[in-house]
Amino acid sequence: MHLHPSTLLLLAATAAAFSPSHTMSRHSALSVATDPTLVSSTPSLIPPSKIDASSVASLFEERVQKTYGRYPITFVEGKGCWLVDEEGTKYLDFVSGIATCALGHANPELTEAVSTQMTKLHHVSNLYYTPQQAKLAAWLCENSCADKAFFCNSGAESNEAAIKLARRHASNRGITDPVIITAEQSFHGRTLATVTATAQPKYHKGFTYGGEMVRGFRYTPYNDVDALKRLVEEINETPEEDAKAGRKRGLAAIMLEPLQGEGGIRPGTLEFFATARKLCDENGALLICDEVQVGMGRSGTLWGHQQLNIEPDVFTSAKALGGGVPIGAMMARGAAADVFGPGDHASTYGGNPLACAAGLAVAEYFSEHDVLSNVQERGQQLSAGLEKIATRYPSVLGEVRGWGLLKGVVIKEDAGCTAAELVGDAMKEGLLLVAAGPSVVRFVPPLIVNNEEIDEALVRFEKAIEKRVASTSSSP
Ligand SMILES: Cc1ncc(COP(=O)(O)O)c(C=O)c1O
Repeated sequence: MHLHPSTLLLLAATAAAFSPSHTMSRHSALSVATDPTLVSSTPSLIPPSKIDASSVASLFEERVQKTYGRYPITFVEGKGCWLVDEEGTKYLDFVSGIATCALGHANPELTEAVSTQMTKLHHVSNLYYTPQQAKLAAWLCENSCADKAFFCNSGAESNEAAIKLARRHASNRGITDPVIITAEQSFHGRTLATVTATAQPKYHKGFTYGGEMVRGFRYTPYNDVDALKRLVEEINETPEEDAKAGRKRGLAAIMLEPLQGEGGIRPGTLEFFATARKLCDENGALLICDEVQVGMGRSGTLWGHQQLNIEPDVFTSAKALGGGVPIGAMMARGAAADVFGPGDHASTYGGNPLACAAGLAVAEYFSEHDVLSNVQERGQQLSAGLEKIATRYPSVLGEVRGWGLLKGVVIKEDAGCTAAELVGDAMKEGLLLVAAGPSVVRFVPPLIVNNEEIDEALVRFEKAIEKRVASTSSSP
């Protein structure tokens, strides 16, 4: 067998880790740990069973960093599209963990797959092969334009991998200053690079260095073909001083969501994506699609970019990929699939057997239950119902937009309430929704939602609107 030199290095390092001297130092560490004077001065651990969790909200207040504004509900269980709080109140879940629990809650097949995998093998690192990762990579490639997968744990991490891949790809082409274009109102994650890619200034506040985020990102208005062309032209001109210093600026990638989720449920246009594809081809750059929210069936096709008739060089997935079990993937096609070599990028948990067993269970369920047809049919039912409600309450509700089971309804500017307030109103009716920006209410139920549940959600949403309108017209 021929081994790559870096694989040989890796094997040598692994062997060193098990060398006699390493074993000795582990033994001496053990003998220190059993030193009686040290043990007696070590405070005893407080087991979780001794922690008073009678008020979960108070514990959060005291012990959890406030990165989220939370609604005052504590969920304790779920089944299908329904969640139950600690008081036993049932809610119809049209959030699904923010477009994540594709098969709903406590899905028997997903539960069985994860439980069984846990009894066999859940993690060994990427130093070795595991069948589950191989199979999930193959499934993803067989059902997309991609040739190879890289696994990680979240959407941000999959986009971070795509950004690094684009930079390495550009570097291989002699570009010293690689530029990645992303769209205004985009959302790509919260790591330093992905939040820089996220072209929404509110997410950058307080995270800059000398006023700058990570260098090498430029922003363009979403769906604006001419602006995108102009920006690429500008990027291709290396500033004179930089050129004199031997630097070369160039387009590394255009990174876009096929449908902007967090930015307000805005679908991409065919023309914009065709232009992005052409510009990448002309400039040797990579077209990256962020499929973290719209992908894995939510649009009614397996991938959002299939709605736009283009094939990206790279696309990313997370959220629905594991049906709520954390997993992310960065998928690459053609030459892009071979940019990374051993040691170039990594993730300890990435693609472990547990997460991949979850991904495989979701994938299997999709085929067995024709989930994509359900997304298309229930998506149409949801749009039609929302449009009817919007015509009955034109002072509050505007356009209904989106694909499949990723739908949003616009709250009019002079409606007298925000999307977040309407989400609160719906919650009082036992319906969970989530805002997408300040003026869009988003509907992202599990992909297995049925006819009756869509109707029930529409009834509850209309009740919330009705009460809101009644309260504003009766207030002085
Ligand atoms: C399009 C898109 N990309 C990336 C992310 C980040 O994913 P994660 O929160 O798993 O890091 C999100 C999260 O909402 C998203 O919607």
